[in-house]
Amino acid sequence: MTKKIDDSKINAALRAAKDFIYDDLTVGIGTGSTVNYFIQALSELVEKDELDILCVPSSIESKIELAKAGLSTGSLIEESELDIYIDGADIITKNFVLIKGGGGALTMEKIMARASEEFIVIADYTKYPRDLNSFPVPIEIIPQTVNTIIKPIFDLGGEFRLRYGTGKIGPVISDNGNIIGDVHFNKSFDPSEMEKALKLIPGVVENGIFPKDADRIIIGYPDSSELVFNKSEKE
Ligand code: A5P
Repeated sequence: MTKKIDDSKINAALRAAKDFIYDDLTVGIGTGSTVNYFIQALSELVEKDELDILCVPSSIESKIELAKAGLSTGSLIEESELDIYIDGADIITKNFVLIKGGGGALTMEKIMARASEEFIVIADYTKYPRDLNSFPVPIEIIPQTVNTIIKPIFDLGGEFRLRYGTGKIGPVISDNGNIIGDVHFNKSFDPSEMEKALKLIPGVVENGIFPKDADRIIIGYPDSSELVFNKSEKE
């Protein structure tokens, strides 16, 4: 990754910590490199201002990062209502639709985004604005359904591909023990309709289309950051 992109992620993360974190919050923590910068910024802020913050991670990876940063963690079982949820995105369209799940944590990410009072997206400038079909839609599926889902997805205009990682032979397995794949579309689609249609296919646990979920979107640039979307200003 280039320094320019890294600095942009840091700027988005710092802005979220500076503008939206205050004492006594329960903060949902997404997954990814931008979120890891946010965890660092949060840890410094908590120490400097002696804040009482409880973090709820969306993945094993983020739980480990939070532990390394010395932050207190809980789970969604005890903390079912989050004050704020901070997460990255793989792409953001000009209409502020998100595609998420490049890190394979989409199911918990969607649950947490929708269990939270406010969802704040942090991303570097390469993610916005992007065409909806410029990134495949991640999906989590029940392992037994790798072949039965292919035709229904094809009928929706998509091509299902298993996702392979490194360090293990076979497809990527989610924190929930399911298979992660990606659906490639070669033309645009209605995000709300496609989100529902994919969800109705038996065996699909979740998909990475987040049509109207973001409350605020912070885009980082190498030397600055910008709040490009603020839902409360539209209401
Ligand atoms: C994780 O499953 C994704 O939804 C992430 O939000 C996404 O991959 C962003 O990651 P980076 O911050 O590393 O770009």
